[in-house]
Amino acid sequence: MARHIVARTTEIPPGGNKVVDIAGRDIVVFHVNGEFFALLNRCPHEGAPLEKAACVARLTSPEPGVYERSRVGEMLRCPWHGWEFDMRNGQSWFDPKRVKIRSYPVAVERGEELQKGPYVAETFAVHVEDSYVIVEV
Ligand code: FES
Repeated sequence: MARHIVARTTEIPPGGNKVVDIAGRDIVVFHVNGEFFALLNRCPHEGAPLEKAACVARLTSPEPGVYERSRVGEMLRCPWHGWEFDMRNGQSWFDPKRVKIRSYPVAVERGEELQKGPYVAETFAVHVEDSYVIVEV
């Protein structure tokens, strides 16, 4: 799996996202609670763009009339029909065994760590023969 540098961390504000094209795939990168998540930008139901999804909390109810919110911002609610997905792994909330969004590993690295080196330009031998300059390739 090839690595692709898609954005500076400051380009995607907390709660925001950025859509990138990687090898012909439309991928949306979310920034939530200091973490970044990458998912295919297509709902598995009917193909809604997930960049428009609401980032909501996980809501559970241990008993009637009692609601608990957790993982605020980590659940995606599709903009077209409201299906919900876990941003960490793309699994759907209502049918996690069968319905899933493709998710991709994300890493945040400092610029110096991405630098490969030393950089060496390709060189070619040059000779001067009489009044002609000859380059060997
Ligand atoms: S297209 Fe996403 S729930 Fe229908």
